[in-house]
Amino acid sequence: MKIAIVGSGYVGLVTGVCLADFGHEVVCIDKDDAKIAALREGIIPIYEPGLDALVKSNISAGRLRFSTDLPASVAPADVVFIAVGTPSRRGDGHADLSFVYAVAREVAGAVTGFTVVATKSTVPVGTGDEVAHIIASINPDADVAVVSNPEFLREGAAIEDFKRPDRIVIGLEDDRAREVMTEVYRPLYLNQAPLQFTARRTAELIKYAANAFLAMKITFINEIADLCEVAGADVQEVARGIGLDNRIGSKFLHAGPGYGGSCFPKDTQALVKIGQDFGSPMRLVETTVSINDHRKRAMSRKVIAACGGDVRGKTIGVLGLTFKPNTDDMREAPSIDLIRGLQDRGASVVAFDPQGMDTARSLIEGVRFADNAYETARGADAIVLVTEWNEFRSLDLDRIKSAMIAPVFVDLRNVYPPQEMARHGFTYVGIGRGI
Ligand code: UGA
Repeated sequence: MKIAIVGSGYVGLVTGVCLADFGHEVVCIDKDDAKIAALREGIIPIYEPGLDALVKSNISAGRLRFSTDLPASVAPADVVFIAVGTPSRRGDGHADLSFVYAVAREVAGAVTGFTVVATKSTVPVGTGDEVAHIIASINPDADVAVVSNPEFLREGAAIEDFKRPDRIVIGLEDDRAREVMTEVYRPLYLNQAPLQFTARRTAELIKYAANAFLAMKITFINEIADLCEVAGADVQEVARGIGLDNRIGSKFLHAGPGYGGSCFPKDTQALVKIGQDFGSPMRLVETTVSINDHRKRAMSRKVIAACGGDVRGKTIGVLGLTFKPNTDDMREAPSIDLIRGLQDRGASVVAFDPQGMDTARSLIEGVRFADNAYETARGADAIVLVTEWNEFRSLDLDRIKSAMIAPVFVDLRNVYPPQEMARHGFTYVGIGRGI
C-alpha cells in the first residue's frame, strides 16, 4: 500500500513509522521544513523509546520518506491519514478542528484515483461528515472514502501499543474502504488484533468514550484513595481487590496526583462540550474533569501538611516533572500545579526529571534544576516523588536521607512500601495509605 500521513507530530510519526515497518510505502508530511529536514537525517523531535531506531531502519530500507510537499505525496497514495493536532479551543474547551479542515481542503485538490482519507486525530462526532463534505465541495470528481480510525497509543509505549493493539477501530461508510483498511492492518492479524468495523460517527465517539472512561477510572480510585486516608485503609489493596474482578480489570487503578497529558484533559473536556451540543449531558465526565482539576491543586496542600503545615523558607525537592514516565511531555502535568502551589506558600523548589527539564524551564519560573535525584535531595526539607520514572524506583534511600535536612518523603505514586521507608527513618506520606 502507498500511504501518506499528513502531520508528523507524535501520532503521525508513530503511525507512519510502524506502517512502514509493516512493509507499506509511507511518506510522512509536515509543513515544518526544519522538522522534515531533521527527520530525514533520522533526528526525532520527540522522546519515545525505540522510535529513532525504527525511523532509521525504515529510512534505509527505503520504505519511509519525509516531505513538505503535500500534493505530490498525496497524489499516488491509496490511503491518506490525517494526523494533525486537535487542541482545546481557547476559551470554550471545544476541540479546535481548523488544522483538520485545512488538511481536508489541501487533500481535496491532490487526490487521484480511489483514495481512503482516514482521520487519526481525535475528532468530535460528525467531523468525518464535514471532511467528506469539504472534499466533495472542493473537488466534486474526487473518488474518496472518508474513514475514522482513532488511535489508542500511550506516550512512552506507543510502538508496542501500535504493534500489539487491544483492537483497531475503523468507522466507514464505503465497502471499498473496508478492503483497503483491512490490507493496511493485515500484518496485525498475526497478533490477532481484532478489527472492529463500524459506522464513522460511532468510531469517532469510541475514542472519546474510551479516554473518558479511563480518566473516570483513575479519578474513581483517586477518590477512594482519599477515603482510605481518613478511614484507615490501603488503596493499593483496594485497587488489587477490585481489579481482580474481571468485570473491573486491574489496569488504570493506580491512585496518584491526578491524570495529565495531552489527551485525557483535552478529550474529557471536549466530550463534555459534545454532550452539551447534543443536549445529552455527560455528567460523570463533567464531574471527573472538575475532581481532577481540584486534585492537581490539592497535591501542594498534601506536601505542606507533610511538612508540618508550613513550607515558608523551606526547600522542597521534586522528583519527576513530566505527566508520566518515558516521555518529555509536560502538558497538564500535575507537577506544574504542585510546584506553583508550593512556591505560592513560600517554598523554594529544586527539581529533577530525566527528560522533561528543557520544557519545564520555560513553563515554571523560579525552580532550580538539579542533575540527579541525590542533588535534588541535598539540603531539602522534603522530597516529593511526582513521576514514577524507573530511576526513582530504586533510589539509594540512605543516600537520599543523609543529603536531606529533614527526612520527609511524599510519594505521590506509591512507589515505595511505607514499612521500608519507616525502616530507613523517613516520615513517609503516600497516596491513600491510611494504614
Ligand atoms: C492516553 C490513553 O491511555 C491512550 O490509549 C490514548 O491513545 C491516548 O491517551 C490518546 O488519546 O492519544 P497517554 O495520555 O499517553 O495515553 O497516557 P496514559 O498512560 O493513559 O496516562 C495518562 C495519565 O493518567 C497520566 O498522567 C498518568 O500518570 C495517569 N494515570 C494512568 C494514573 O494516574 N493512574 C493510572 O492507573 C493510569
